[in-house]
Amino acid sequence: MMNVTNFADQIASLGKKNCLIADGALEVYAKELALAIKAPLLIMPRGEACKTRAQKEVIEDFLFAKGFGRDSCLIALGGGSVGDLVGFTASTYCRGIAFVNIPTTLLAMVDACLGGKTAINTPYGKNMLGSLWPAALTLMDINFLKTLSPLEISAGAMEMVKHALIADAEYLEELLGGSLLRLDLIQKSLAIKEGICKKDPLEEKERLLLNFGHTVGHAIEAYFSYTISHGIAVGFGMKVESAYSHIQGWLSKEEYERIVYAIDLLSGFSLPSIPELNKLKGFMRLDKKALQGVIRTSALEAIGKPKVFGGAFCAPCNERLLEEALSMTF
Ligand SMILES: NC(=O)c1ccc[n+]([C@@H]2O[C@H](COP(=O)([O-])OP(=O)(O)OC[C@H]3O[C@@H](n4cnc5c(N)ncnc54)[C@H](O)[C@@H]3O)[C@@H](O)[C@H]2O)c1
Repeated sequence: MMNVTNFADQIASLGKKNCLIADGALEVYAKELALAIKAPLLIMPRGEACKTRAQKEVIEDFLFAKGFGRDSCLIALGGGSVGDLVGFTASTYCRGIAFVNIPTTLLAMVDACLGGKTAINTPYGKNMLGSLWPAALTLMDINFLKTLSPLEISAGAMEMVKHALIADAEYLEELLGGSLLRLDLIQKSLAIKEGICKKDPLEEKERLLLNFGHTVGHAIEAYFSYTISHGIAVGFGMKVESAYSHIQGWLSKEEYERIVYAIDLLSGFSLPSIPELNKLKGFMRLDKKALQGVIRTSALEAIGKPKVFGGAFCAPCNERLLEEALSMTF
């Protein structure tokens, strides 16, 4: 059972006028929390469907109508999608108001709740509008994970695999060893992400590594009009970017195969159809890491060891080899 009183006390300690914005899956708990913090409640469409300009406007109009000003605080209750939307809305409302994040999915607990990135999607690409706006407070309760579907557990697992691939080979073996819904594993992922974000908060160097699997993953999400779970798309993205690292001669065949094995074991989900390569590459050219339309990606030298390109953590792609990597995966 989630502890409403403890969360309410911590939110009250910020001394703001609060508004609670929750994912539709959390409606019952959200009503209890809204009552405890005496805040109006706004329920969002479930998951990725809320990360739109239209939903941002719905929140803003709700806040204006209820007289919220600069002393306000938006509380996000839900997965990474609601967290990204509410954080972004908080960053622009009255030029920026406080934001509290209560992550309720594995993916949001191990990754999205940390680092301050906020965003919404557009039909042109994933997370194309956003800001860096860290939460004033992040409140976590592992009990939220009890109601997650196998798909959402796999989605979270993919970001955990990403942390292992870019930073800690032993962690990958731990992930393959049993239940993923453990506080120590969540803490390990957060420690890896925090270590990287601290070195490079503005994503100019090392932080680009956290995008491993995302050049392709985000393109897959846009290709399927955001109907695919982010984590699952990133799983496919990591397979492609590992295949690319292998074809380039940076990553051994054994390690490439171990990565594919780990991703298939922890996420057995498939895509609705095989993506058409040219259309997929079109989305990659619009990715935020692309420069002047040239696709860029990070890569691996070994499990736990990213490839560094003369001091850079992301490099232009050889499109012919990228196509080969895509064909190896799909
Ligand atoms: N800001 C960042 O640094 C960052 C990092 C990684 C991912 N993201 C973003 O996070 C989003 C994905 O987040 P997500 O994987 O958490 O998924 P999500 O927020 O889209 O939610 C996925 C599904 O889980 C449901 N759900 C949420 N909590 C639940 C619970 N406790 N029990 C049962 N169902 C629940 C939702 O209703 C939805 O159907 C993507 O948009 C991605 O871009 C952001």
